[in-house]
Amino acid sequence: MCARATHDKFRGVGIFSKDRGGYTRDGYQSHQPMTNEPPVLVFGGTGILGAPLAIQLAERGHRVHVAARTKQFARPSPIHSVRCDVGVAGVAERLLRELHPAWVINCAAETNIEACEENGPARRVNVDWPRELATAASSTGVRCVHVSTDSVFSRKPGQDKPQEEDTRNPLNAYANQKARAEDAVLDASNGEALVVRTNFFGWSPAPEHGLAAWTLSELRGGRRIRGFADVFFNPLYTGDAVDLLIRLLKANTTGLVHLLGAQCLSKLSFVRSLAEVFSLDPNLIEKGRLREAQFNVPRPLNTCLATTRLERHIGQRPPTAAEGLRRMFREENSLSARLATLEEYL
Ligand SMILES: NC(=O)c1ccc[n+]([C@@H]2O[C@H](COP(=O)([O-])OP(=O)(O)OC[C@H]3O[C@@H](n4cnc5c(N)ncnc54)[C@H](OP(=O)(O)O)[C@@H]3O)[C@@H](O)[C@H]2O)c1
Repeated sequence: MCARATHDKFRGVGIFSKDRGGYTRDGYQSHQPMTNEPPVLVFGGTGILGAPLAIQLAERGHRVHVAARTKQFARPSPIHSVRCDVGVAGVAERLLRELHPAWVINCAAETNIEACEENGPARRVNVDWPRELATAASSTGVRCVHVSTDSVFSRKPGQDKPQEEDTRNPLNAYANQKARAEDAVLDASNGEALVVRTNFFGWSPAPEHGLAAWTLSELRGGRRIRGFADVFFNPLYTGDAVDLLIRLLKANTTGLVHLLGAQCLSKLSFVRSLAEVFSLDPNLIEKGRLREAQFNVPRPLNTCLATTRLERHIGQRPPTAAEGLRRMFREENSLSARLATLEEYL
């Protein structure tokens, strides 16, 4: 079920009071400058990737709607929030017809790996929902982007980086669901959707959610952490991921693209770089190994993927994790302050 972030009495009122300025009745600040940028609907626009995506799109003059289940951007805001459970059938078509976005970007997912093993509700959000959204986007003529994960692959450390068309080998239920969603979205859109396999780090709307936010919180609190020396990835800073995603969209890119950074590094090297950039004590970081850790659900050791296709589209190499960490440091006051305007629905 989805509802506007407003009292029922005002349902259907006010969202499109367009450019007269001031606030609509549901607190959406409508005095953004008129631009020709396409309006965008971001499902999961309150998560680690979705929230900065919504903020950056709004800053560039897009009219932005964010759909999520538990949080909204505090009003007044240039971002319009819609309360929504994508687990309920029929949501996609109704919202696309009601809000008329030109682009719809799906960042909504069950990202808790343990919860995904139970399949039921996680499979609904991670597989059935993306299929439903891509089908609805196709029938309403809306450009659809679906966010997938690097962990549809699981390589041995040192193995060649896979290209988009290489055979996937998901290790756990989460990765398996994400792989099935990639096929479902491309199938439902006749290959017209853009599906990005990504991995990212950045300021988190939920404190300590995500590797970078958690590491910062632990090191700033003077607590010891372990970084896995045997797990490799090539992540992007969320700000960089958003910049590149918008470029891909503007270039009308379709199909699968690895939206990842230029640097394949271990999680240990990543947290050490983070400590260096944020001037935190590197002695708090111990070397650990995933192979020795006690996890109930298997996790991949190497998800570094080739970015050749991305580089061809953007005409340059993507940023490295080290470059992204420096940008994350510079953006602490600006971006994390904006993320702090997210609040729980009453
Ligand atoms: N984090 C990573 O490092 C990583 C790596 C690779 C790929 N990815 C992929 O990137 C995408 C975004 O991940 P993220 O880390 O930004 O996710 P996240 O922080 O866990 O946020 C998930 C978003 O999905 C929404 N959502 C979940 N269930 C929903 C439901 N039933 N109805 C409506 N909204 C729902 C959440 O809203 P509520 O909280 O309100 O439910 C939230 O806005 C996902 O597709 C994920 O698989 C993530």
